[in-house]
Amino acid sequence: MNTLFLDAAFSKPTERPPVWMMRQAGRFMPEYWEIKNKYSFLEMCKTPELAADVTMLPVDLLGIDAAILFSDILVTAEAMGGDLSFTQGVGPRFANPVRSLADVDALEVDVLDKLQYVADAIKVIQQRLGGSIPLIGFAGAPFTVMSYLVEGASSKDFKTTKLLMHNHPEIAHKLLAKIAKVTAEYLNLQIAAGVNAVQIFDSWALALSWNDYQEFSHRYIQEIIANLNRKDIPVISFCKGSSVFAPVMAEAKPDVISVDWNADLLNIKNSLPAGIAVQGNLDPHILYADKPVIKKTILQLFERMRGTDGFIFNLGHGIMPDIPFDHVKYAIEVIKDFKY
Ligand code: CP3
Repeated sequence: MNTLFLDAAFSKPTERPPVWMMRQAGRFMPEYWEIKNKYSFLEMCKTPELAADVTMLPVDLLGIDAAILFSDILVTAEAMGGDLSFTQGVGPRFANPVRSLADVDALEVDVLDKLQYVADAIKVIQQRLGGSIPLIGFAGAPFTVMSYLVEGASSKDFKTTKLLMHNHPEIAHKLLAKIAKVTAEYLNLQIAAGVNAVQIFDSWALALSWNDYQEFSHRYIQEIIANLNRKDIPVISFCKGSSVFAPVMAEAKPDVISVDWNADLLNIKNSLPAGIAVQGNLDPHILYADKPVIKKTILQLFERMRGTDGFIFNLGHGIMPDIPFDHVKYAIEVIKDFKY
């Protein structure tokens, strides 16, 4: 197996930084559309052979150092009772938003049987990978998942979610505790099915104040990580907002913190306890730019990180759907040509 990714995640030396990219299996690839034009997004997630086909696209076409399971952070919320749909150009929607104590009480927590399709997909993917590179599993963090359940859709300002947190914290906490329980069990199901690492996505944490981050996000991530069967399985904690929250994220004891593009990555690394690796942190917009700009910016980051063990190259957030495929491929060639 190519162990670059796992070595870096456990802060061991590597000959070059390993590379994978958030949202690497998605709409910027023409081959994704060939599948997407025939099936709905949820069908793709729930049919193990299709989920495996999409997971393998960046493995076969880009040569990345780790694969990530093709799924979505909202499948846990759907299993709990959320009436989830995805519409092109609109994004995710819950037809039955969760806003009252009765709504929270109606959500189920014993839902692993409904998520068995994910375990099945992991087994098919591992067969296809044949031990060549590690497979990353993932789940959404409770705050980010709650925001979709409460808003019923994507949101710019999280107004309804914040109103619930501020006016009815006891309802918000009951909801977060339920999501956290399901999330820990769900990640353990993925580990039992054979993933080699897990990442927790708290995509919208940046919307929170310092105090609200501790109260409504961090403590639940800490609880999830504490409950993982994580022997030999590195845990990556990603949040948009990590430039601010990294010291708090470290208290949950992940193996890796995935950093957005606002901070200097070496400064973040040096501010963390020894043994916590960093992942990041190229601004994904750089991948729209001309190739010499892409190369220069990646090499600048690598020179900055030279001599630092525990560094995985990634973007500060996911690849946008209209980034040219050819630019992503070029970026990966630049990375794989680099030697410390
Ligand atoms: O990284 C990967 O390649 C693995 C697959 C993956 C998807 N979603 C596939 C997907 C992962 C890891 C996710 C996580 C996810 N889903 C997050 C956290 C990551 C992040 O970027 O912050 C979030 C916030 C979601 C929720 C979600 N799912 C949204 C907001 C959307 C719509 C996005 C949009 O711009 O329309 C989705 C749908 C989704 N998830 C797609 C894919 C490939 C697009 C579906 C389609 O083809 O229409």
